[in-house]
Amino acid sequence: MAVPLVIDTDTAQDDCVALLVGLLDPAADLRAITMVAGNVGFDQQVRNAFMTLNAAGGRDVPVYLGSRRPLVREWVSAENVHGDGSGGLRMDQDGLEARGEHAVDALVRMAAESPGELSVVAIGPLTNIAAAVIKDPAFAGNVKTLYVMGGSNNGRGNITAAAEFNFYVDPEAAKAVFAAGFDITVVPWDPLTLKQAVFGQDRLDRIAALGTPLARFFTRICGPTLEFDRSVGIDGTTHPDSLTAAVLLHPELVRAASRYHVDVETAGELTRGYSAMSWGVHGLEPNARVVEEIDAEGFFDYVLELLSRDTDPPRAVSGL
Ligand code: RIB
Ligand code: CA
Repeated sequence: MAVPLVIDTDTAQDDCVALLVGLLDPAADLRAITMVAGNVGFDQQVRNAFMTLNAAGGRDVPVYLGSRRPLVREWVSAENVHGDGSGGLRMDQDGLEARGEHAVDALVRMAAESPGELSVVAIGPLTNIAAAVIKDPAFAGNVKTLYVMGGSNNGRGNITAAAEFNFYVDPEAAKAVFAAGFDITVVPWDPLTLKQAVFGQDRLDRIAALGTPLARFFTRICGPTLEFDRSVGIDGTTHPDSLTAAVLLHPELVRAASRYHVDVETAGELTRGYSAMSWGVHGLEPNARVVEEIDAEGFFDYVLELLSRDTDPPRAVSGL
């Protein structure tokens, strides 16, 4: 049976690829897309989500607008990394509307409608998820499993030396989520993404050679990030968000994972958003499973297969 899921996203670059995973993989039953403040301007993120629905053939999955800023801090953007998150693509969005219900209400409602069945893939700052916990104390128990892209497992950050972007933007939300009692799996930035989910030039050439509308979309949306990655010494595009969705749907991609106690720094002067991942020797009760190793070739083949599909986007997109 396909996995019923919601993707909570700050849609730019690899978030778009993660949405394609949810939209195109028959193992997924994507019930909703919920939007949260993160990578780029909120309204641009929404446009990127609708462009991705179009790229997937014009799928009609409901989009819900959520938190436009972190719980207590000012929003921090990653536009220096992602540009507008779409590689400058443009599409007429007339008639495309998000649902009227707030994303946090939608998350709470959907989880309560089928307790223990819905999975949530959170690939942006955790503001919506924390707000859902605050709104409904039963939310964490109603969600079957929460897959989180965020933090680093005793490794490097990306927005600062200490912190990965999603946890840095809303550390209070991340801290609250790890204390809320979810069944959590974490896909961290370093070392997992940095070592195992980078597509170098050979792989990018193989994707471009597919020649499908989806491959063109991928190449375009990943362009600005590739340029940024190279400027900071990463030899390819990074795919933490699509990896997070893929490992939920295909657990066989995970080669190693362990239980950790994960907590997030909210008070440090230099360590805002640092993820303290304790591996079991510090007397702390584990609260999450952290993915440590994946089948990297298998993950690339999976994305390649996804992008090889022939779709028929209903709206014209300029820039492709
Ligand atoms: O740090 C990686 C995360 O922030 C991912 O979710 C990606 O979308 C990025 O900007
Ligand atoms: Ca993201």
